[in-house]
Amino acid sequence: MFLGLDYTISYFVYCEVIAMRTYRVALIPGDGIGPEILREGKKVMDAVAEVAGIAWEWKTYPFGAEHWLKHRKGLPTLMSEEDMKELGTHDAIYFGSVGDPRVPEYVGQAGALLWMRFYFDQYINLRPAKLLRGVESPLKGKKPHEIDLYMVRENSEDFYIGLGNRFSGTKNSEILELLRPLYKARFRVDVDLEPGDELGYQIGAMTGRNAERTLRYGFELARRNKKNRVTVVHKANVLTKIYGLWVEKAEAVAKEYPDIELEFTIADATTMWLVRRPEWFQVIVAPNLFGDIISDLAAATVGGLGFAPGGNINPDRKAGVSMFEPIHGSAPKYGGLNKANPVGTILAGKLMLEHLGEERAAELVEQATEDVLAAGKVRTYDMGGTSSCSDMGDAISERLLQLKP
Ligand code: NAD
Ligand code: IPM
Ligand code: MN
Repeated sequence: MFLGLDYTISYFVYCEVIAMRTYRVALIPGDGIGPEILREGKKVMDAVAEVAGIAWEWKTYPFGAEHWLKHRKGLPTLMSEEDMKELGTHDAIYFGSVGDPRVPEYVGQAGALLWMRFYFDQYINLRPAKLLRGVESPLKGKKPHEIDLYMVRENSEDFYIGLGNRFSGTKNSEILELLRPLYKARFRVDVDLEPGDELGYQIGAMTGRNAERTLRYGFELARRNKKNRVTVVHKANVLTKIYGLWVEKAEAVAKEYPDIELEFTIADATTMWLVRRPEWFQVIVAPNLFGDIISDLAAATVGGLGFAPGGNINPDRKAGVSMFEPIHGSAPKYGGLNKANPVGTILAGKLMLEHLGEERAAELVEQATEDVLAAGKVRTYDMGGTSSCSDMGDAISERLLQLKP
């Protein structure tokens, strides 16, 4: 009888263990404040795993300035093609930030961040901005959750494709190639210059197919989150070709969503409206470069860069791994001081959980974060307090454990 009970219990424990959902995640701490914010992000992800009954298999990668100086000096990228292939075998990538004064900027940016976005076809950059309880907006009189928008930034084209050059001398010509998993494009450039003059140029390009899937993601996101307006940012009044296509695709996609209002705003005016009436916006879909600028501004309206998460997403998990990071950079002057605010990184972890289908765990992370912020005891320097980066991670983890049913 006792033996039978024992077996039954072991059987249930066994079932729970084998049924536990396990995710293999690559950690890339990077440079500056990257290692400390990601350490806190991981701490909170470990706590939520305990509460929500999931498991992580972490693997840390050294890609950053030190690794480059030691092993890859002179090369244009932080990691090799082999490294990229290995990263691609994970369920997700959790990323701190890169950028170090000892390394050329393009190595960490074009040679790591943008490379991952293109290589894994992470064509969505999801950057929500929500004013949480306990956080003060620099905009007068804004109440918690009054600002609550999703920024969908197109993440693989526009002026980020990396095609351009600088010429000096009188006659120059070249062929530039854009080789993408989904298409190829070739641009021929012939230039005649006055002697002694120089020319710098950069090409922006967009395909209809990519514009369409990005815009559709925005409408689907609106529908899923019961938002009834999608604001599409452009500058088609001046850059008529590239954003003319974008506007046309927005009109076509919007027809499939009669329940959702389509609104167009021109990029410059969008920044003005975001300051005057951020609560108006529900879902903003923007081309890559405007999205980069507008997302930092949206972050500022909800407390600053320290609060802003980002997901570089390929919605098809089988087609490419997605990468989650705060939207800010490595803030080198704060690196190693245990001072930076890890909330953006922790909320990027929330986006990672959503992407993995762990909705409940994702909600718990936001709830615990908001509870800690609302209690007002733990406040990092950017909130006018003296708490450390690890104080914030500890408090959110402890709160999560209290939420355990
Ligand atoms: P940054 O985002 O690193 O920092 C700008 C300022 O924002 C900081 O000086 C600080 O005042 C504040 N800030 C940023 N993160 C914060 C946090 N977690 N808590 C509190 N305050 C925070 O931008 P930058 O100084 O222009 O760039 C520094 C380096 O980062 C550059 O090399 C840049 O190329 C790189 N960068 C990397 C990424 C990335 O890895 N995803 C993104 C942007 C910039
Ligand atoms: C961001 C950053 C990057 C970008 C840079 C560092 C390449 O500013 O993630 O917003 O411009 O996308
Ligand atoms: Mn940016």
